Amino acid sequence: MYFPISVLTLLAALTLPFTAQASDQTFTRLRKNDTVFLVVDHQLGLFSLVRDFAPDQYRNNILAHAALPKVFNIPTILTTSAETGPNGPLPREIVEIHKGAPFIKRNGEVNAWDNADFRAAVKATGKKQIVLAGITTDVCTAFLALSLRAEEYEVFANSDASGTFDQRLADEANDRMRAAGVTTMGMFAISMDLMRDWRNTPGTSELLPFFDKYLTAYAFLARAHGAAVTNGTLLPSEATS
Ligand SMILES: *[C@@H]1O[C@H](CO)[C@@H](O)[C@H](O)[C@H]1NC(C)=O
Ligand SMILES: *[C@@H]1O[C@H](CO)[C@@H](O)[C@H](O)[C@H]1NC(C)=O
Repeated sequence: MYFPISVLTLLAALTLPFTAQASDQTFTRLRKNDTVFLVVDHQLGLFSLVRDFAPDQYRNNILAHAALPKVFNIPTILTTSAETGPNGPLPREIVEIHKGAPFIKRNGEVNAWDNADFRAAVKATGKKQIVLAGITTDVCTAFLALSLRAEEYEVFANSDASGTFDQRLADEANDRMRAAGVTTMGMFAISMDLMRDWRNTPGTSELLPFFDKYLTAYAFLARAHGAAVTNGTLLPSEATS
């Protein structure tokens, strides 16, 4: 009599925390007027550590991460780690996109949140939502994302623009961040969540040129549609619906 009850109690005690955590995962949407982007250690030297993306694809992805906040006029903060050493500087394209933005060059802190100037720059934006990406995913992105969660920011890690040594480390880092309430998603989802509706501004007119530069699959879909409308002819065998 006693035994089954205590087993049930034990089971309930074991399952309750997991149930509670799962139900806490509400759909938190990006609010373009309450967001700041962080570019974290996308440095030329560190770039060579990234093996979970092909170099051309990863270059595109970090440039897209830097360019997307410009489309929405969202503030952006740049930071680098010991850039006069082997980690190297940021690609010049990223620096040029964000001339005049806060740029915190850390001299030693691995976790950007350990740097007082960086913390001050983030706090000065007054924003509650943070989109970030860095090299490496398991150190520069994850450590900062976890610190930001501890400060109760809503944190979105751009999984297209964080890179690391291999897929296993990326998976572990993303699991670790998600367990702390970080949302991991790619550039297309981030841009769509910020836009919300193609009829908004920024909307179709601003996002299609951005995709034309940074998201070839969507760009060529749009171009093919354009070509079909301006000069398309159906082949005799093509279905029309
Ligand atoms: C953002 O915009 C929404 C809707 O327009 C508004 O309710 C909200 O207060 C704004 N938030 C900030 C931080 O400006
Ligand atoms: C439109 O397509 C025809 C062939 O169907 C081609 O001769 C013509 O050059 C095309 N025009 C443009 C503007 O692409």
